[in-house]
Amino acid sequence: MQRSEFILIVAVLITASCTTSVVGFLEQIAARLPLPGTPSPPGSPWPLPRAWTRNLNVATLSSKDNFQYISNVNDCRELNVALGRYDYEILTQKSGRVDAASGFPILSKVYIHIPENARQNLCGEFPKLNRSLAYESYKIVVGNSSEGVPIANISAETIWGALRGLETFSQLVWRDRDWSANHYYINFTEINDSPRYPHRGLMLDTARHYLAPRVIKQVLDAMSYNKLNVFHWHIIDDQSFPFVSRTFPELSDKGAYIPGVLIYDPPTVQDIIEEARLRGIRVVFEFDTPGHTLVFKKSHPELLTPCYGDGVNPGTPDYPNHAAHEILDPTKENTYTFMKDLFTEVFHNVTKDEYLHLGMDEVYYACWKSSPEIKSFMEKNNYTEVNQVQEHYTKRHLSMVQSLGAKAIIWQDPLDYGVQLDKDVIVQIWKSGTGETSWQTYFQKALDAGYSTLLSSCWYLNYIAYGETWRQYYECDPELSLPKPLPDWQKELILGGEAALWAEYVDATNVVSRLFPYLGAVAEKLWSTANSSSTDDAMWRLDEQRCRMLGRGINAQPIFNGYCFPGEIF
Ligand SMILES: *[C@@H]1O[C@H](CO)[C@@H](O)[C@H](O)[C@H]1NC(C)=O
Ligand SMILES: *[C@@H]1O[C@H](CO)[C@@H](O)[C@H](O)[C@H]1NC(C)=O
Ligand SMILES: *[C@@H]1O[C@H](CO)[C@@H](O)[C@H](O)[C@H]1NC(C)=O
Ligand SMILES: *[C@@H]1O[C@H](CO)[C@@H](O)[C@H](O)[C@H]1NC(C)=O
Ligand SMILES: *[C@@H]1O[C@H](CO)[C@@H](O)[C@H](O)[C@H]1NC(C)=O
Ligand SMILES: *[C@@H]1O[C@H](CO)[C@@H](O)[C@H](O)[C@H]1NC(C)=O
Ligand SMILES: *[C@@H]1O[C@H](CO)[C@@H](O)[C@H](O)[C@H]1NC(C)=O
Repeated sequence: MQRSEFILIVAVLITASCTTSVVGFLEQIAARLPLPGTPSPPGSPWPLPRAWTRNLNVATLSSKDNFQYISNVNDCRELNVALGRYDYEILTQKSGRVDAASGFPILSKVYIHIPENARQNLCGEFPKLNRSLAYESYKIVVGNSSEGVPIANISAETIWGALRGLETFSQLVWRDRDWSANHYYINFTEINDSPRYPHRGLMLDTARHYLAPRVIKQVLDAMSYNKLNVFHWHIIDDQSFPFVSRTFPELSDKGAYIPGVLIYDPPTVQDIIEEARLRGIRVVFEFDTPGHTLVFKKSHPELLTPCYGDGVNPGTPDYPNHAAHEILDPTKENTYTFMKDLFTEVFHNVTKDEYLHLGMDEVYYACWKSSPEIKSFMEKNNYTEVNQVQEHYTKRHLSMVQSLGAKAIIWQDPLDYGVQLDKDVIVQIWKSGTGETSWQTYFQKALDAGYSTLLSSCWYLNYIAYGETWRQYYECDPELSLPKPLPDWQKELILGGEAALWAEYVDATNVVSRLFPYLGAVAEKLWSTANSSSTDDAMWRLDEQRCRMLGRGINAQPIFNGYCFPGEIF
């Protein structure tokens, strides 16, 4: 039986009635068994900063009218938009007004400092994969000014660091237990922070179910509350083609669930990219081939290999081994030119990122093996194994994409069947079995071969189960979970990871609650120093983070018993 079933946790913030510096702490109530871990006080940030000097001195936030952000640059749109966002969120939690508590020093000024030169502060640019710690680092000091008045200073080398700092600053603010008092506080503190990994992502699948742009934007918002910086958009799959191509409009005209309606047209896609950019989030598009392409058949049947399920007729299934069609036809020149035209549009007119995700996963051979065309293609090329056919496609497709100037990310599969790839291809590890097929083995193999890697295997958020499943996400670590320590050169190959939410059972009704706050567990693994917190201690902060997200209108699901102070949002 699970320990958690017998524990009742209630987070209570008690405010001293007099105006001493001790204004609050968390109280726990445990039934039958003590609660694990050390409670964190309100105003504890998630993910945990690299260096956080706590302080018992407390200031109260001034009323909204007196509160001011002051920045040294005026012409940075990203910063100005962010200040609008954080003003509202910090001060009102979207639910009310702010009054300074009497008897406390009042914080009314937050200074933001970034380099004035746009080339250095990166205002106006798109976020990139950048391994430099400085790229997203920031520093926060909440303390007395030389006049003895509380001020907050947020400084960063780039706008992206400033955004991360603003998020942390917003999390340092906490609310009085007396809900009606509208009092908000912040402890004096000093934080020096920068991410552990440069690629901290979420993969969303918008093909199994369509997700409205409004919902995607809410996910982007909540990602930024967890300092995630990559939205990997698995935009098409066997089931639907919601992406509107200008070159091949028939793909979505025939392939969208509701053509013209359940689609992402060019302005919508650009709008989502911009919303992401304003939060320091890259959008990496995945157009998965040569498998997962059944949807192409609706408008371009010539692109797919007909399977010979009955041994005689093309385009016949042999369930459950293969469908009538399921994989691109690598034997025809037209397949390559079509993909070249599609990817040219995607790379030059759609994405703003240097990287394209090429998929390449789950190419099952049963269909190809049934096909006489594949057989003669193999003979012509002197191929003895079907995986050489896949290698053939993989190499041509990759070099085409590279010739466009794009950098590539692929799922691990081509590596598994021994394809040699350029070392600048990023390999995303997603499989997870045991022993030789454990993710650790795959991950280590990719590192041994010198590839930059992303980890996803242990962060499949779609595998829902009863209980505190966030713990397993939190306890999976790209370095510490490996059987032996990595040499430094291999550590540097780890770019980070991505949680994945495959959408067979996910749509707008449940995507947000299924992602949050669990995605936060992954985010902390990718942002914070390895082993920075025990899982038991992290629970308290994650619970607070969940409540914080609720306060911001994100329907994050509970991680445990209890309630969100000062009130659940319904
Ligand atoms: C804030 O200060 C109070 C005491 O005044 C202390 O109990 C609490 O732990 C501090 N919180 C943080 C986040 O440091
Ligand atoms: C990465 O970020 C750092 C810090 O902003 C910057 O100095 C460097 O030029 C960036 N590197 C690239 C390749 O953009
Ligand atoms: C905040 O920054 C200003 C200007 O950069 C500096 O003069 C001041 O000492 C800083 N205050 C604190 C509390 O760090
Ligand atoms: C901040 O300055 C005020 C006014 O000088 C002083 O009363 C207070 O003790 C100072 N607080 C800290 C934490 O230094
Ligand atoms: C791509 O962009 C270029 C330059 O803006 C434009 O000329 C071209 O028509 C666009 N192509 C597509 C397919 O949208
Ligand atoms: C296949 O092998 C034959 C005999 O060795 C050779 O003549 C031919 O060029 C090869 N074809 C390809 C495509 O490599
Ligand atoms: C860090 O890892 C070590 C060894 O695995 C463990 O003993 C220690 O408790 C961990 N520290 C935290 C804060 O989890």
